Amino acid sequence: MSNTEKNNGQGKAAEANQISLAQKASYDKLIANNAQWVEKRISEDPDYFINLAKGQSPEVLWIGCSDSRVPANEVTGTKPGEVFVHRNIANVCNHTDMNMLSVLDYAVNVLKVKHVIVAGHYGCGGVAAALSNKQFGIIDNWLRHIKDVYRLHAHELDRITDEKQKVNRLVELNVTEQVYNLCKTSIIQNAWMHRHDLEVHGWVIDLGSGLVKDLKVTSSSPHNLGYVYEFENAEAVAVH
Ligand code: CO
Repeated sequence: MSNTEKNNGQGKAAEANQISLAQKASYDKLIANNAQWVEKRISEDPDYFINLAKGQSPEVLWIGCSDSRVPANEVTGTKPGEVFVHRNIANVCNHTDMNMLSVLDYAVNVLKVKHVIVAGHYGCGGVAAALSNKQFGIIDNWLRHIKDVYRLHAHELDRITDEKQKVNRLVELNVTEQVYNLCKTSIIQNAWMHRHDLEVHGWVIDLGSGLVKDLKVTSSSPHNLGYVYEFENAEAVAVH
């Protein structure tokens, strides 16, 4: 190996080391931030973590997109303990997703949340990917649910020529369909048979302004879902 080759090798090793230092710094920052956060909370309220550890009684379940720009607590100005959160790519509520169903059941039946919010956001990469014909990997199977939403509303979406507008309208329609998907679950419908303080809402967050748009699709009964989706009362049936 010539000296030049050796030097190049060392240069590469140094570069690799540099990258790993930068990577370490981005990780260490999280631990340092955490320590600062703890200090700040305790300086404001010495009992903060003693009270936080006692338990949670959130009134809201947030089902949002995994996108790093839409954190539930920040967007709604709420504190730890106030919002129960489930997030996945493009805020899909699929009735065979055990993860989502478990979160929903626990939130509705144990925590007794009063509001379930499906929160999408304009410019959602998942929704844009679903509108395209490209393959992205295993996620294509997840995004299939959104392609189905597109098919349901193709007559409206096909008339939109601007691609960005088309994505954003599909974002709204996707949230609306996911609200209805939640209402179609036996979890939500059984809860409605016993209590009248549970609402399912649809929101879209505008990343450009930070503001939430309430899509006004709030549901508190199964009556607008279509006859086939409406369950009869399982307990009443058991009595007959
Ligand atoms: Co998204």
